[in-house]
Amino acid sequence: MSDLRSLYQEVILDHKKRPRNFRLMESADFWADGHNPLCGDKMTVFLKIDDEIIKDVSFQGEGCAISMASASLMTEIIKGKSAQEAECLFSKFHRLMTDDGLTHTSGLPLGKLEVLAGVKEFPMRVKCATLAWHTLHTALDHSNQVVTTE
Ligand code: FES
Repeated sequence: MSDLRSLYQEVILDHKKRPRNFRLMESADFWADGHNPLCGDKMTVFLKIDDEIIKDVSFQGEGCAISMASASLMTEIIKGKSAQEAECLFSKFHRLMTDDGLTHTSGLPLGKLEVLAGVKEFPMRVKCATLAWHTLHTALDHSNQVVTTE
């Protein structure tokens, strides 16, 4: 295993073991429930938004290492960003997971999210990695509802 690959795996395991922003947010302005129908795993994403800026974000739920790490990394990168920037990161991350041609595109850098790039080689796990993001997308839509990754 290359050094880079093992570093990536370490980051994923660290976020699985100690997920950042893993908590209920009683005062959330918006939230949504996400569901991966392939495995039954569920998660809720909470948002506090002020003047279009994501002041706070948290999540709760149960899932595999990939889904938990992805949610944890997502909360770290979107906190302090505008809702529009978060949506841009979602579409860029989605392309990273699904588009073979993606190398480096313009816009906000994906930063640590790139540790999940290897997931693309396992199509069944792409839904794990994108569960939190689909849930975020629904919460940003202010619809406070349930979303599935299908
Ligand atoms: Fe359920 Fe990954 S196996 S979200």
